[in-house]
Amino acid sequence: MKKYFVIGNPIGHSLSPKLHNHWLKQNNINAVYEKIKLEENEIENFIHKIKNQEINGCNVTVPFKKTVIPFLDKLSLEAEQAQSVNTICFNNGDLVGHNTDISGFQKAINSLNYEIKDKKILILGAGGVVPSLIVALNKLEASEITISNRTSKKAEDLKMQFNKINTVSWGEVPDFDMIINATSLGLNNETIDLNTSNIGQGKFFYDVIYNPNETNFLKLGKKLGNQIENGKLMFIYQAFEAFRLWHGVEPDVSEKIFKLLDND
Ligand code: ATR
Repeated sequence: MKKYFVIGNPIGHSLSPKLHNHWLKQNNINAVYEKIKLEENEIENFIHKIKNQEINGCNVTVPFKKTVIPFLDKLSLEAEQAQSVNTICFNNGDLVGHNTDISGFQKAINSLNYEIKDKKILILGAGGVVPSLIVALNKLEASEITISNRTSKKAEDLKMQFNKINTVSWGEVPDFDMIINATSLGLNNETIDLNTSNIGQGKFFYDVIYNPNETNFLKLGKKLGNQIENGKLMFIYQAFEAFRLWHGVEPDVSEKIFKLLDND
């Protein structure tokens, strides 16, 4: 039986096993998908197990999306651009790092029929998922990307990695069309202290968090009369692409899958 994992720390919250195991069963694939919490010094040894095919592949979540890169043989173009890997495949003897967060975000936005082209985007946070959001937003031709992070050094590092990024201080809210919460604030009912006085209407509030379904950030967006969306579709589509890479099959993305993830 083939074996797949998601590695991260913490990992307890991950819904990836539920989703992948559902799809494996649905497609009659003889494989199992589990989550495993690793320490940084265990990463190299774990990845070696994929090279010798004790393990068939893995997803990577925070805080290891960059950590895994030196242990891989090749990166896809997108993983290279983002310097972030969330899916590892074994291909003709090589360990290949892919980034399916990028297409996950793109597919989610496309399926909402939201047009990113020529829009001003404000991203809150500078953690693991942000480089992928930036690559996707650039592909979708956003006109401006501004990062606001509590620790300004991390926002400045992203500015060095990508062209055309602006940064503002944490708490500052410049004019935007779409605001994305990519911080961990909201996972445990926290609020984000934003100066809302200049936020008009016709904006799009997007939260990468999908559990809870509606964070305080999204509640605020709604209260101000704006469009809101959580990160569930992005999560489903990044898994969809990883599943396709490993098994060569496009799995089901339907209402049933939404319900499956809602039960938690
Ligand atoms: P990592 O930083 O390890 O990649 P992450 O979950 O991807 O982890 O990122 C957490 C993000 O939430 C970061 O942008 C973090 O800001 P810092 O870079 O300043 O740590 C942000 N964050 C977490 N707790 C926060 C808080 N209480 N106030 C503001 N931002 C917070």
